[in-house]
Amino acid sequence: MSQDKKVLDLRQRRERIYKGGGEEAIVKQKAMGKLTARERVDALLDEGSFQEYDIFVKHNNTDFGMQGKELAGDGVITGTGTICGFPVAVFSQDFTVAGGSLGLMHARKITKVMDYALNLRIPLIGINDSGGARIQEGVNALAGYGEIFYRNTLASGVIPQISVILGPCAGGAVYSPALTDFVFVVDKVSKMFITGPEVIKTVLGEDISAEELGGARVHSEVSGNAHFFSESEEECFATIRRLVSMLPANNSVTAAGVEPAKPEKKYDISAIVPQDPSQPYDVRDVIRSVTDGSGFLEVMELYAANMVVGFGRIDGQTVGFVCNQPLVLAGVLDCDSSDKAARFIRFCDSFNIPIITLEDLPGYLPGIDQEHAGVIRHGAKVLYAYSESTVPKITIILRKAYGGGYIAMGSRHLGSDFVFAWPQAEIAVMGAEGAANIIFRKEITEAANPAEMREEKIREYRDKFANPYVAAAKGYVDAVIEPAQTREYIVRSLELSKGKQADRPAKKHGLPPF
Ligand code: HXC
Repeated sequence: MSQDKKVLDLRQRRERIYKGGGEEAIVKQKAMGKLTARERVDALLDEGSFQEYDIFVKHNNTDFGMQGKELAGDGVITGTGTICGFPVAVFSQDFTVAGGSLGLMHARKITKVMDYALNLRIPLIGINDSGGARIQEGVNALAGYGEIFYRNTLASGVIPQISVILGPCAGGAVYSPALTDFVFVVDKVSKMFITGPEVIKTVLGEDISAEELGGARVHSEVSGNAHFFSESEEECFATIRRLVSMLPANNSVTAAGVEPAKPEKKYDISAIVPQDPSQPYDVRDVIRSVTDGSGFLEVMELYAANMVVGFGRIDGQTVGFVCNQPLVLAGVLDCDSSDKAARFIRFCDSFNIPIITLEDLPGYLPGIDQEHAGVIRHGAKVLYAYSESTVPKITIILRKAYGGGYIAMGSRHLGSDFVFAWPQAEIAVMGAEGAANIIFRKEITEAANPAEMREEKIREYRDKFANPYVAAAKGYVDAVIEPAQTREYIVRSLELSKGKQADRPAKKHGLPPF
């Protein structure tokens, strides 16, 4: 065969595999509002950057009618490419081929690009659209999953790992994503569950649709398994590209800087936070008033909305924001918001991303439900994450900083490098009303006019403690600053922190509260 014919033969072989599970299966895939596995890779990566591996890999299963059965690429596309010029490794499961189910060779293709990602220290992005372990392959399929989970764990904290759920993902297909850093879902397309509705009906006799059991909204709002919710696959891939462009390739470098864009003028920082401590506001307006014009990429926007976390850029550098949201539950810390904050802090710390904390909260949420749900251990995760982290940490106390909330939200005592407070900050053990009721109970009940006495004692407590100057007098707050000075203080502090070194005692690993 001449060289030309050999090249033609190669192209024809490739073309057959590019068709995946065939026309009919592709029509079915499209009818569900889904892109094909190859279209997804194209939507994710820079044009022309994809380099594919193992296209000719075949399964070697002979059981249950599988002998000689052609499965294009064994149901998964793997390779490397770039996003905004940054190298990444990627796999994309093809639901048109045996439901994207995972057999041993399918798993081997995935573990090979995982090894590339880990050895080359580049981010890994997995696009999951799979019915889970390939049932015909039995324990071999389970072995494949185990080898993926093992690598997910080795890579954790070394390279960013991103999972995209774009189909009905069952069984093992959801555990690998759960071991990664960020899970993306798309409305009406993504489904995640360990066992689907049919098994639940059989075992428990309960009726539930796949959407209600494990749809994109459920995992974004209720379970907390998903970090980014999109309306369409196109929007989802655009968000992944934005996220990757803001992250470092691995834990030994910092995220690439960009030309700083000026903050948007429409946010007047001095007018956002109401003076009345009982009035809510949207902390994201404060974030946007200090970040570069490139904006704010919020993580887990729909889950535990009393805590806002996400990435922004200040002076061209990526930073992570951890902020109480007074708009929801007055910004209290509870079980879910504590988990959300702690996980995000640990991600930033793993990947050399400085943490900016914006604080305004009345404390931890009291109540029987919270106590029984384990607010002690959940809340302790925030204390642990801040204390453990060694990246530059800058805290701004915007308004309320009461009790455990004051300590937890990036206080100096947990290792923050710089703590600034606005003049309206109230730093105390608790709010003036609650404090007066407890410490002046006797005076109030015995007074001729208890209501008047109560008001007087509240005023007395507020005058003494509900301000930033008591903490500033002890050095717990470095400076009381005007709101309009916030960005310049953050910019200078970040600049100062560039060479930060922080040692921790040597250990195998810590044991954060679970
Ligand atoms: C082999 C599978 C498969 C699987 C789907 N297919 N899942 N083949 N192993 N796990 C095949 C189907 O036979 C079908 O093949 C094609 O993929 C499309 O599937 P449909 O059922 O027609 O699609 P749909 O109606 O959209 O339903 C999708 C689904 C359903 C919800 C994912 O297929 C399903 O429930 N599959 C089984 C899920 C599951 O229980 N997986 C095992 C989990 S155990 P044809 O040839 O007809 O086109 C597991 C263990 C790991 O993963 C645990 C690790 C901790």
